[in-house]
Amino acid sequence: MRHTNIFEERRAVRFFDKNADLPPERLKAIIDLAVLAPSAFNLQPWEIIAVRSAEAKQLLADNAGGQQKILDAPVTLILIGNREGYDLSNPVWEEARGIFKEEAGFNAAVQSARSLYGTSPERKIKFAESNAGLLAMSIMYAAAYLGVDSHPMSGIDFDGIKKAFNIGEGKAVVMLISLGYIDPDHPLALRRPRRQYDDIVTEV
Ligand SMILES: Cc1cc2nc3c(=O)[nH]c(=O)nc-3n(C[C@H](O)[C@H](O)[C@H](O)COP(=O)(O)O)c2cc1C
Repeated sequence: MRHTNIFEERRAVRFFDKNADLPPERLKAIIDLAVLAPSAFNLQPWEIIAVRSAEAKQLLADNAGGQQKILDAPVTLILIGNREGYDLSNPVWEEARGIFKEEAGFNAAVQSARSLYGTSPERKIKFAESNAGLLAMSIMYAAAYLGVDSHPMSGIDFDGIKKAFNIGEGKAVVMLISLGYIDPDHPLALRRPRRQYDDIVTEV
């Protein structure tokens, strides 16, 4: 079933139904929608490891404070941001090359991305985390749209996961997202209140 009020529907589901699978084609449908997320220069500096086997789930849980939802949910995604994704080694640049009439325009765009995102460790982290963070949100709303529950996690051992799953140099674990279906025996608590417009917006 599709839900259109995805803002209301999405919750951080803490208890997943161990017996409800998320078939690979359902996961693919979520990701196919989610990749419509925006990214700087459309560079999409992100990768995902979908953790599905019992062995890999245990390894992930061991590096995520033992969070039970990783063991119960049919799939948990490791969202990875590429700190070097502004670089020419990113295959998206090949597609982008076609947009430019002149080689000079293409080179200027590559140079601009490099100076905006590649000139300090802070900029590299910001580039990886902000773009992959938008993909993460897009995955959770795509899941909600397709009637699938989700749970984001950053209370995890980022370096431990990086080592355990052989995530390469220049890449960073951004967060985990468990996907599946809520355990009917553990209904959600009421949603906690949100800070509202007057508290968070300053008009100037
Ligand atoms: C980046 C991020 C990291 C989070 N990490 C954890 C976590 O490690 N463990 C956990 O139980 N919940 C985690 N949460 C879930 C939040 O506690 C939850 O989203 C928040 O309380 C609001 O509830 P709602 O999503 O149901 O509206 C995380 C949420 C976000 C966005």
